[in-house]
Amino acid sequence: MVRRRFLLPASIVLVLLFVFYTWPAGDGDWLKSAISNKFDANVIKDDKYFWRKRITHFPIEEIKQFPTGVPLKLPNIQTTFPPEGKQERTTRLERQQTVKNAFSRCWSSYKNKAFMRDELAPLSGKARDTSAGWGATLVDSLDTLHIMGMHDEFEEAVAAAAKIDFEKSSLKTVNTFETTVRYLGGFLSAYDLSGDQRLLRKAREAGDMIYAAFDTPNRMPITRWDFGAAQRGEKQEASDNALIAEVGSYCMEFTRLSLVTGDPRWYDAAERIREVLQEQQNTTLLPGMWPITVSPGNKEFNRDNTFTLGAMSDSTYEYLPKMHALVGGLIPEYQSMYETAMETALSVNFFRPLLPYSPDILISGSVHANDAWGQTSYELEAHGQHLVCFVGGMLAVGGRLFDKPEHLTVAKKLVDGCIWTYTAMPLGIMPETFYMVPCKAGEKCDWDASVWKEEVLQQANEENVRDMEKADARIAKYSLPKGFTEISEVKYHLRSEAIESIFVLYRATGNKDLLDTAWKMFQTIQKHTETKLANGGVGDVTVSDRAPKLDAMESHWMGETLKYFYLMFSESDFISLDEWVFNTKAHPFKRLVRS
Ligand SMILES: *[C@@H]1O[C@H](CO)[C@@H](O)[C@H](O)[C@H]1NC(C)=O
Repeated sequence: MVRRRFLLPASIVLVLLFVFYTWPAGDGDWLKSAISNKFDANVIKDDKYFWRKRITHFPIEEIKQFPTGVPLKLPNIQTTFPPEGKQERTTRLERQQTVKNAFSRCWSSYKNKAFMRDELAPLSGKARDTSAGWGATLVDSLDTLHIMGMHDEFEEAVAAAAKIDFEKSSLKTVNTFETTVRYLGGFLSAYDLSGDQRLLRKAREAGDMIYAAFDTPNRMPITRWDFGAAQRGEKQEASDNALIAEVGSYCMEFTRLSLVTGDPRWYDAAERIREVLQEQQNTTLLPGMWPITVSPGNKEFNRDNTFTLGAMSDSTYEYLPKMHALVGGLIPEYQSMYETAMETALSVNFFRPLLPYSPDILISGSVHANDAWGQTSYELEAHGQHLVCFVGGMLAVGGRLFDKPEHLTVAKKLVDGCIWTYTAMPLGIMPETFYMVPCKAGEKCDWDASVWKEEVLQQANEENVRDMEKADARIAKYSLPKGFTEISEVKYHLRSEAIESIFVLYRATGNKDLLDTAWKMFQTIQKHTETKLANGGVGDVTVSDRAPKLDAMESHWMGETLKYFYLMFSESDFISLDEWVFNTKAHPFKRLVRS
């Protein structure tokens, strides 16, 4: 008896000792060391921020805690790159320097003419406040400055960012999603890169402000938020009508903020949304995907009938595999939600367009579900958009993380689709949105000009779709390249999604052709967007020369587009996708990685 009593505790001690020595550290310690070794506890004790002092009307009874445990060992996203030749390296560095020069020029004009304002107008030189007046370009550019090694400018920018006043807004209605992905994401990323405590304070301050938009009866967010009413402490509730992208894309920023501050409130807020997304994912009219419009007010994410991975939905999907990467697989639901969503998207959302020489490319379209007499039918809208070009990168990340080679195959075809659309335009730049002719799945996709022309007339709602003269006239009038039935929005807003996916695919596959493709794309964009001061959007990409320029340079040009072009030509292990994960505004966050 005596010996047995002794043996049992002894074996427990042995097991515990074993566990202790084979795990890198206890869970808590492990988490702390993984987050930041420069962590300053005083930053989170500071209680003087305005938004933290606001009275909570609808308190939470039990805050959900970030899961304990060590991150899983995940497969690499990046491929192994062979050693670089001398000439390759020289070419790469020259290209990178050219991108940096373009950024530098924009930065100094912004600093001289619009510092701390949201945007510089690149033709008139005016300053504009389009994102609540908190210095969108400044905050979006912080991490780019750091990544490009512009340390003096970074220092100056951080000092200015520390002074941003979140107690006032230039907009009556604040977009909480945009504020999260740009401002909170910008501070977090710059903090992760530099460890500068001023950025952590600012991240928490922005986080406290945005969190006030979650003080609703059902704890769902107000995506278009009456800033003044919130400030006055009025009671608020979530709307019956919101865009899924603006509801479903808080998780990366909120989770990272909870991890770096040790305060679980933000993680809890994002987790409540994730639960609704998961519960209703298979109950929509297109099971697996969520419709564009949802009701946070009623917690109903399954009513509407239009589905897309593009604008208004995009980052909700994008964040599923990226959350898995961010938290080292500690929230396993994100994997199954991603796999379920992609199974549906792969089967109905992508189409191969009818084109001369039948390139094997894909475009990501939209699907309308029609529910009649208890039968649901689906209609593909062969619509393309620049914004949806991020999907290639998302599938490359998911394909690598979850070992799904078929996702990589589709990723390549989608990226080729975006590249193709750039080169097909007279100007060499992709338009904002357009329509094409989809080939039927599994059938031949041989070019047929008369089919294309009929579809051009169909798209224009013409009665007689066989009037070829009319079709030719229309094609000439709108400069439609072969295969396009309409260019619904002819502008280019300095967008980043094409180069984003080219960059991710390059890091995942090592395909060197992508370097030349990216370089050509950069030169074309630079040629047609450069102004005396900086870069401006293009008014019409269907003209072959002297495209009109727009007097707008949205903050994503310096925050996203130029950053991805720069990283395209950096060392392949710099900001490795195995250590960092980019939010939807190209702000890299440190991943939890098992060492
Ligand atoms: C939704 O359906 C898929 C099968 O298509 C399944 O794997 C997944 O677990 C389901 N999700 C939920 C929340 O039931």
